[in-house]
Amino acid sequence: MIQLLSAGLRVNNNVFEILDQQLLPSQETWIAVQSPSHMVEIIKALKVRGAPMIGICAAIALAQYAEKTSSIVEIEHAAHELQNARPTAVNLAYCIGKMLATPRQDWQKGALWEAAVKLFHEDITLCESIAKHGIPLLKNGAQLLTICNTGRIATAGIGTALGIAYKAHELGMNIHVNVVETRPLLQGGRLTIWELKKQNVPCTLLIDNAAAALMQKGVVDAVFVGADRIACNGDSANKIGTYSLAVLAAYHRIPFYVVAPYTTVDPLCESGMHIEIEQRSFSEVHGVQGSFGNVTWAESSVQVFNPAFDVTPAELITGIVLDCGYFNQKAIKHGEHLKIEEK
Ligand code: MRU
Repeated sequence: MIQLLSAGLRVNNNVFEILDQQLLPSQETWIAVQSPSHMVEIIKALKVRGAPMIGICAAIALAQYAEKTSSIVEIEHAAHELQNARPTAVNLAYCIGKMLATPRQDWQKGALWEAAVKLFHEDITLCESIAKHGIPLLKNGAQLLTICNTGRIATAGIGTALGIAYKAHELGMNIHVNVVETRPLLQGGRLTIWELKKQNVPCTLLIDNAAAALMQKGVVDAVFVGADRIACNGDSANKIGTYSLAVLAAYHRIPFYVVAPYTTVDPLCESGMHIEIEQRSFSEVHGVQGSFGNVTWAESSVQVFNPAFDVTPAELITGIVLDCGYFNQKAIKHGEHLKIEEK
């Protein structure tokens, strides 16, 4: 019997459920995943989100499906559909790649479940290792700034950028996390604040546009952000608004760290120019929709520019924290973040 449990997903004897992140924080509702195409819908709607988490969920959905179909071709088709659910996070391709690399003849004999369970447990370990390498970058009393949600519901473990803050808090360090709300889908305001409050980590919420003012006041000691894809040259794609924070941090001479597992590094992607950026629906910017209600304030015929991610050039990144170590600008230039031994 397979049992998996994290803050955002649970598997109990082939029943696979995910916590609906669109309804948080006002409702904690679990959705039972029925099929790969249901999983694709859930991923596209950001009911589950965060680069590591969508990869793991896609893998589990595929393993679950293999038990229901006798067709290898159908499993391959489902894998393809899942891999293309969102284009920017490379973790989807990483996880599906690992699934498809198992012997085909064993797919319906538990090999896909085995691979999915391994990916789940691997991610927990990766988060712990990331935190270990991130902690030395913090001083006691540090005021951090972050964007989006890189925590427990974005991974199988304690998170990436946010995982460092959790670990610091757990170790008794005095840290404070400033969170930009992250328009349009408010992952910062809804999800990160919800998580930090649950863990009793001191935090402050600010609108995206207030980040410059907070830095100007001298409040921010370091910016920690996640990533959806890290290119060979260190350029990193992450939630829209990350690039603005990096520019602001450079102006204010504040260290800016990108934090991710090695599964987010794309050795086939030369630079940020090659990262496909997901464009999302106009309605997300015409107003807001969520468990808190639906409000539209803009003229519904207006054109919208709504990229889900942007790319921060490597030159603005002080360093990248991976599970296998900390890489400063010089190390990134030498491609040391790419020389990663797979576990
Ligand atoms: O659109 P989202 O909410 O999936 O975007 C998530 C992010 O940008 C995260 O920073 C990234 O996936 C890393 S999560 C550990």
